[in-house]
Amino acid sequence: MAKVTDIVYDAIYPCTACALRQEGNRGPTGCTGSDRSPLMIVGEGPGAVEDEYGVPLVGQSGRLLDRALASVGISRERVYVTNVVKCRPRGNRTPTPAEGAYCAERWLVQEIAALKPAVIVALGKVALRFFAPQERSIVRSRGSWRQWQAADGTVYPVLPTFHPAYLLRLSGREAREAKWQVYYDLTAAKERASAAAPDFIWQVETPADTRAPFLARREARRSAGR
Ligand code: SF4
Ligand code: URA
Repeated sequence: MAKVTDIVYDAIYPCTACALRQEGNRGPTGCTGSDRSPLMIVGEGPGAVEDEYGVPLVGQSGRLLDRALASVGISRERVYVTNVVKCRPRGNRTPTPAEGAYCAERWLVQEIAALKPAVIVALGKVALRFFAPQERSIVRSRGSWRQWQAADGTVYPVLPTFHPAYLLRLSGREAREAKWQVYYDLTAAKERASAAAPDFIWQVETPADTRAPFLARREARRSAGR
């Protein structure tokens, strides 16, 4: 079985398999974090900053994700972060369920098979829809565990929670409550993943800036004129 990062670099980055690649983006985005992590976080799809850097969740939503992870004692680089859809839809529109399923069946399932995470956290509605297609409401679904079965029969525990972009749109009491819910969800996810991987180290002493390791990739994408 290939390492998950080999799949990302050798297969995902060159992908041109669907029409999303033609929507004016710089190409597929990869992953951030540890290829050994027992915890995988799955977002929706890249926005403008992610498209520039070639990796998921390094814009405003990503910064909030980093803070949420830090609040439960996890450094961003210690989790594996990816998206359902790898290529940025034009104008940041939400990818359709069919687009999500197409890209995820091609790539996300391979990332999962290679990483074999103990726990998957699904951020927001698009990720929820991939893992639990019959569920429509992230408000109702968040915080309760789902089982997702891969093609090889392996069953993965999936915990849906709010997407950071959703938290950024809320204010006042609603925002505070939703942030607490994300805190509880991440705590539960970490506990379950820790039970499966008791020796895993969740924090680094001096966390790197999340974008810094991808500056060269950003330059390469820019100069490729994509
Ligand atoms: Fe390939 Fe996914 Fe990009 Fe479509 S969205 S071109 S399947 S990486
Ligand atoms: N939102 C996501 O779900 N993923 C990203 O990479 C950026 C914003």
